[in-house]
Amino acid sequence: MSLTEATTKRDALSTVNGSDCDAAAAAKRRKNDETTTTTTNVRALARRRCDVEVRLTQNSTAEKNRIREHVLDYFERKGSVEVLASNAIELERNEGNGEEEETMAFLRKNCEKITFYFDDRVEESVEKTPSLMFYEIDFRVHVHEINEDGAGEEREDDDEIATYKEYALPCREFSEYWDSLYFDDDTKSRLKNYAQTALEFGNLNVNASLVAFNRVVLLHGPPGTGKTTMCKGLAQKLAIQMLDTYSEPVLVEINAHSLFSKWFSESGKLVGKLFEKIQELTEDEDTFVFVLVDEVESLAAARKATGSEPSDAIRVVNALLTQLDALKEKKNAMVLTTSNVTEAIDVAFIDRADVKVYVGNPGHKARREIMMSWLTELARVGIIDRCPENYVGVDPSGKLEKATEGLSGRALRKLPFLTFAGINRNIGDGPMKLEDFLEAVYEKATSEKREREKLVLPKK
Ligand SMILES: Nc1ncnc2c1ncn2[C@@H]1O[C@H](COP(=O)(O)OP(=O)(O)OP(=O)(O)O)[C@@H](O)[C@H]1O
Ligand SMILES: [Mg+2]
Repeated sequence: MSLTEATTKRDALSTVNGSDCDAAAAAKRRKNDETTTTTTNVRALARRRCDVEVRLTQNSTAEKNRIREHVLDYFERKGSVEVLASNAIELERNEGNGEEEETMAFLRKNCEKITFYFDDRVEESVEKTPSLMFYEIDFRVHVHEINEDGAGEEREDDDEIATYKEYALPCREFSEYWDSLYFDDDTKSRLKNYAQTALEFGNLNVNASLVAFNRVVLLHGPPGTGKTTMCKGLAQKLAIQMLDTYSEPVLVEINAHSLFSKWFSESGKLVGKLFEKIQELTEDEDTFVFVLVDEVESLAAARKATGSEPSDAIRVVNALLTQLDALKEKKNAMVLTTSNVTEAIDVAFIDRADVKVYVGNPGHKARREIMMSWLTELARVGIIDRCPENYVGVDPSGKLEKATEGLSGRALRKLPFLTFAGINRNIGDGPMKLEDFLEAVYEKATSEKREREKLVLPKK
């Protein structure tokens, strides 16, 4: 490698966002070498964003910058990186020469998991560029600790239904949510790109009365398609990426249904109290608040309610909408909402959402991925004897893929359990042959679909 090339490489690396490890040295080098600077800038323009999420082990005491340096060192040694939508560093790998092994040992000791994601906005170019040199990549290394505490719940006096739950992010519970969802289209990247743009606009203090954006997202679609999971996974992902700016991100999960559940006349007060708490959270500059309003259709249902006190219901919905509007002013808040009956959502609410994303049942590619994910897990724990390398080995005739068509993600995730529970076999009997298990899955999927067709699914 020539000297200029080497300098360019180091420069490209040292300008990595979130890693100021070599920034001072890089600035000096740039001053001394005009030619190099120009080359670097050209490269910087063309560099492809890659977010590296580094989850620390519970007992790691290493400084974040040292972790970043080692992660970058890992990529530098690797030289080129495959451009897949998501990938992970194999921490268990034990090969390479002395220094390489040292880097790996350090990462192994301090990190529980390292995953990296390419910016999928330019997906078309992936096929032409299956891998990139590390200096062509704009690495953003996000080092974080995971919160082991579960959700804090807030109940209204002696009410048995929790009004809201509060999670300190990033939390263990949501850690696999984003990656566990599969779609045939770009639903996930569209949502992530929207949210990232909204945050960037907020950080630039773009005047929202000139360029309107509300930081409100609505995911709608049939039951069990991953809407709630995606909202939580998105909040977790953004929280990890923003830790340098907002060190204390939280997610407040509101069950809209519970706001109207018991004493209508009390509901107005409940909404007020809830948002008082949310506003309080947003006042802390280190906090970013994700507000998840699940089952937002209950707002519309409440407005239409002809029961005892309809005017009270309207008052509550209006209070909620007003409070959500007030949150618009806060650049450290984002509202995520879900619904499984689009027709019934309050129009006033639909209007407020910047992005409305339809989330449907998994298509054929997503079904394959989901099935592969559970087969891998069943093989890992020894319930089945093995898992083939790829889906062709699972379903050569494609009959399983057909049999699962129309099932929701939730139904598909339950299928292996239901299959096993439905056959005359005990765990103690040892691993089941893959072929026998797949045949049983096929039978179960077929009968599930038949049952579903007979059943008119009750709406929640
Ligand atoms: N496309 C998918 N890929 C992988 N898993 C999925 C998919 N869709 C749903 N699931 C799984 O199904 C389960 C249910 O998902 P979730 O509760 O998020 O659905 P939902 O759309 O919010 O449902 P509802 O409308 O009933 O509230 C989760 O475990 C989720 O991981
Ligand atoms: Mg849901």
